[in-house]
Amino acid sequence: MSLPSSHSSSIETPQTAIELTVNGRAYALRVEPRRTLLDALREDLHLTGAKPGCNMGQCGACTVLLGGEAVYSCLLLAVECQDQAITTIEGLARDDELDPVQQAFIEHDALQCGFCTPGQVLTLKALLQRNEHPTDEEIERAMSGNICRCGAYPKILAAARALAGRPL
Ligand code: FES
Ligand code: FES
Repeated sequence: MSLPSSHSSSIETPQTAIELTVNGRAYALRVEPRRTLLDALREDLHLTGAKPGCNMGQCGACTVLLGGEAVYSCLLLAVECQDQAITTIEGLARDDELDPVQQAFIEHDALQCGFCTPGQVLTLKALLQRNEHPTDEEIERAMSGNICRCGAYPKILAAARALAGRPL
């Protein structure tokens, strides 16, 4: 008995032309409307600093800045991020000079495996840009959406304290 021939037809997925402004540079790309900002950054633009952790808004590893605010890029669609400046960890250093938040993390040994670190750095940067002298409570509240499985929290707090009042 012969089997019926299969009629596997490829399903065309509609794509949308969008433009993202990332780290001061405009990128034109075509994406499925369902593509997350995290996937667009990592897979289309090859900016892999933002990390896929939970992919459901619970760990903060995917944090980037959108219009200066720390956001979970796994929860945003790329198509809805076209009108605001996006900053990833790759955009913080200037030439060979690290951002002060990056430098403070190094000086205070505020990381172990480093998987959470891009998100931690960007969340702290956003906090310090809107509040130059945060209290410990304000730092902890702002950072509460960034999980560190290595438990580097005391040293992250030390880095944050050291940055208070410094120009960013
Ligand atoms: S990967 Fe986005 S919050 Fe965990
Ligand atoms: S340094 Fe390893 S998860 Fe934070």
